[in-house]
Amino acid sequence: MPPMFRQQFKNTEHAANLFALKELGNIYTRIGNPTTHVLESRVSLLEGGHPLAAVATASGTSAIFYSIINLAQAGDNIVSSNKLYGGTYTQFNDILPTLGITVRFVDMNDPENIRAAVDDKTRAVFCESVSNPALEICDLEAISKVAHDYNMPLIVDSTFSTPYLTKCFDFGADIIVTSLTKWLGGHGTGVGGMCIEKGTSQGNPPSSFRLGYLLPFCLQYLY
Ligand SMILES: Cc1ncc(COP(=O)(O)O)c(C=O)c1O
Repeated sequence: MPPMFRQQFKNTEHAANLFALKELGNIYTRIGNPTTHVLESRVSLLEGGHPLAAVATASGTSAIFYSIINLAQAGDNIVSSNKLYGGTYTQFNDILPTLGITVRFVDMNDPENIRAAVDDKTRAVFCESVSNPALEICDLEAISKVAHDYNMPLIVDSTFSTPYLTKCFDFGADIIVTSLTKWLGGHGTGVGGMCIEKGTSQGNPPSSFRLGYLLPFCLQYLY
């Protein structure tokens, strides 16, 4: 059972120091929450990541959205596998374009297909380690090699494989997104998601810089 904390500033000086990042601690639950932090650090460690390099979200769908909007902006595009969970397909095909971010779908069974879709506005490559519902297994090493040839981060949705079966970072993923709602949650009783960053700084600007906006709780420890 993770610890439950009641936020308490000892005094106004303590609060001022926390807000000025002069002192480490919990400031505001949206920025950092010790209970959520336990979940983040445990899942990140399971994935082989740094205990401070993850951010939990309200759903897997949110985690995917966060990972994209922290790398791409209007006018940019991403290259995605065409074998996706239906909700992710809708997000990529129908919702991201309304923000000016387009998604180019390719068959990643041949990772060379990625090259034909990349241009100077491509910000990331996205795939599911094991796709839902087709259950196709991505060759992460080959896909990441192509992504890295273009200095782009590979975002892998590891929902179906979970870190128990596949450590996606070991096979070239730079960012892992996952739905905690499925096997990681285990009981189908809660909705949640997570973005975990390896910190390999692919991309321009490096993904670690952009995802850093998502990780203020971590940043107060790292800087
Ligand atoms: C592979 C995959 N990714 C993401 C999601 C979305 O997760 P959530 O339902 O937690 O938003 C699902 C949901 O089924 C999924 O199967």
